[in-house]
Amino acid sequence: MNGLRSGEALLGDLATGQLTRLCQVAGLSEADTAAYAGVLIESLGATAGRPLALPPPSHTFLSDDHSPVEFSLAFLPGRTPDLRVLVEPGCSSGDDLAENGRAGLRAIHAMADRWGFSTDQLDRIEDLFLPPSPEGPLALWCALELRPGGVPGVKVYLNPSANGADRAAETVREALARLGHRQAFDSLPRAEGFPFFALDLGDWDAPRVKVYLRHPGLSPAEAVSMPRMTPAPGRERLEEFFRTVGDLPAGDLTDAERADRLTGRPALTCHSFTETATGLPSGYTLHVPVRDYVRHDGEARERAVAVLRSNDMDSTALDRALTAVTPRPLGDGVGLIAYLALVHQRGQPRRVTVYVSSEAYETRPPRETVPTHDRVRAQL
Ligand code: TRP
Repeated sequence: MNGLRSGEALLGDLATGQLTRLCQVAGLSEADTAAYAGVLIESLGATAGRPLALPPPSHTFLSDDHSPVEFSLAFLPGRTPDLRVLVEPGCSSGDDLAENGRAGLRAIHAMADRWGFSTDQLDRIEDLFLPPSPEGPLALWCALELRPGGVPGVKVYLNPSANGADRAAETVREALARLGHRQAFDSLPRAEGFPFFALDLGDWDAPRVKVYLRHPGLSPAEAVSMPRMTPAPGRERLEEFFRTVGDLPAGDLTDAERADRLTGRPALTCHSFTETATGLPSGYTLHVPVRDYVRHDGEARERAVAVLRSNDMDSTALDRALTAVTPRPLGDGVGLIAYLALVHQRGQPRRVTVYVSSEAYETRPPRETVPTHDRVRAQL
């Protein structure tokens, strides 16, 4: 693994090495693993052959160190986790967002041709998210769910602020309406921004249209009041997840004494729509950027393990996944575990998702203290 870092190591080599080892953790066959390594190389385009000694191909905020790849593991009770990989297929176009988006779109169409799925939903909203002169911070990302059989599930992530952050709400409302979800926008909870709009493409049991919302300063009480899906997720479990990941223990301080909210990088919620009859979402995901609330990845891993265990999920698979991605000791950096998410989708068992950075370019050093917690302690 370390050998890949020396000499002429390429981004594609590092990323496919990580992916190959992760595929083993996820129980994928050798044939599927080889196929998915090839898919990842193709998704990265010319960037796959870029030496790691050069700077990242773009300033993408897909990951903190601008790696255009991030992995995630979706855990279900009593099962081997599913593996997914998020990529910026236009990354070879660098920070030219218009070209980055066009290249991303070409990559999605190539996948559609190859795996025989329709891009109809995407075609209907393309002009809203990929205008001639798009604004940041992203153009198009793609996540692949690496299923047994060698054909991935495809998810496309678009930027509601492409026409300006001030028009993001309007863009989301219009996109939902064009996809038949005319009442959906009005069902969303209040938020301070729309980071992503996403579509499932191809072969899904119930393809989702997903709206992501940003919630600076979110408190546990607010986090449990955000879901609009029916049936509503269990509040206790949701609160426990949020408090565990954000290190906001219940009851040890009075409300006046502690902030009891996430004062660093904001939590996100995701509301997914799978039918147009009710106008209500059928899914709710709470994403907590755990990397901002820990000193190092040893702590992030402990939080992840606590959440997995309390949800009857296999935390040993997480440890294998972390070793598959990097040989570095977890205490030596922060950001390997980027987000932890609790996923509720109608008709499906609860899921926990762990987002694991590639750290192709940089590992952030551990911090001495977590500033948001200091402030709380200083008040005592
Ligand atoms: N890196 C970005 C962020 O921190 C985008 C992102 C990557 C993201 N993976 C994610 C957002 C998982 C939510 C969940 O926001």
